[in-house]
Amino acid sequence: MSHKNSIDLQKVPQHIAIIMDGNGRWAKQQGENRIYGHYEGVNSVRDVVEAAGEVGVKYITLYAFSTENWNRPKEEVDALMELLVSTISAETPQLNKKNVRLQAIGNLNSLPTACLQELNESIDLTSKNTGLTLVLALSYSSKWELIDAVKHIVADAKKGVLNADDITEKHIEQYLCTRHIPDPELMIRTSGEHRISNFLLWQLAYAEFYFTDTLWPDFRKEDLYEAILNYQTRERRFGKTSEQLTQSK
Ligand code: FPP
Repeated sequence: MSHKNSIDLQKVPQHIAIIMDGNGRWAKQQGENRIYGHYEGVNSVRDVVEAAGEVGVKYITLYAFSTENWNRPKEEVDALMELLVSTISAETPQLNKKNVRLQAIGNLNSLPTACLQELNESIDLTSKNTGLTLVLALSYSSKWELIDAVKHIVADAKKGVLNADDITEKHIEQYLCTRHIPDPELMIRTSGEHRISNFLLWQLAYAEFYFTDTLWPDFRKEDLYEAILNYQTRERRFGKTSEQLTQSK
């Protein structure tokens, strides 16, 4: 039986963030080069997006390329950029068919022109879709995002738009790339690594973390359902006690 049937549809996380890790190791296991693993990883992306939409997840953010990934061998960076362009272009009709809206966060201006153009086109073509929102984190890192936010906050404070003494969490959130996106309730990382790797540090403050040894190219629909089921067993206390939560039910 599919794990899907056991999911409580009333308690599905509205936003799931995923660190897709293990493509290189998966490829090595197959006797192939790392790039083959990234290509295979696209099939997992397709599967997971479909599975998430089926159970009513509203947002999926995928860590597709980090600021630090620019330091990989040029051949791999070029291949990843080409893969992004070809995948985004090939998948856009399918995204529309499935009512999926594409968005992106990160230092997008640092992407190659062809990649940025394809991305903007797909974002535009899917902008009216009302189902799942697929957010690609590209040339993204939390530290980059926070530095960028601080620069804009300081600039606005200088202009008198903002008073430094009045700054609250809500203000900070308005300066992050995710200002129109709710915080993730669940963060999944594949491949047995237990790190957050500069991903959504602010936004994951109260997220539940789920780590699996499965390598990203092997992560499919059932794996996502399993992660959601595991999330549904967690008690989310937000700093309160278990008793307080029971009393307010
Ligand atoms: C990490 O595995 C994976 C990446 C850095 C790239 C992920 C990108 C894709 C799956 C393509 C996605 C495409 C779209 C359009 C979303 P790794 O290379 O670090 O693996 P390793 O840890 O085994 O070396």
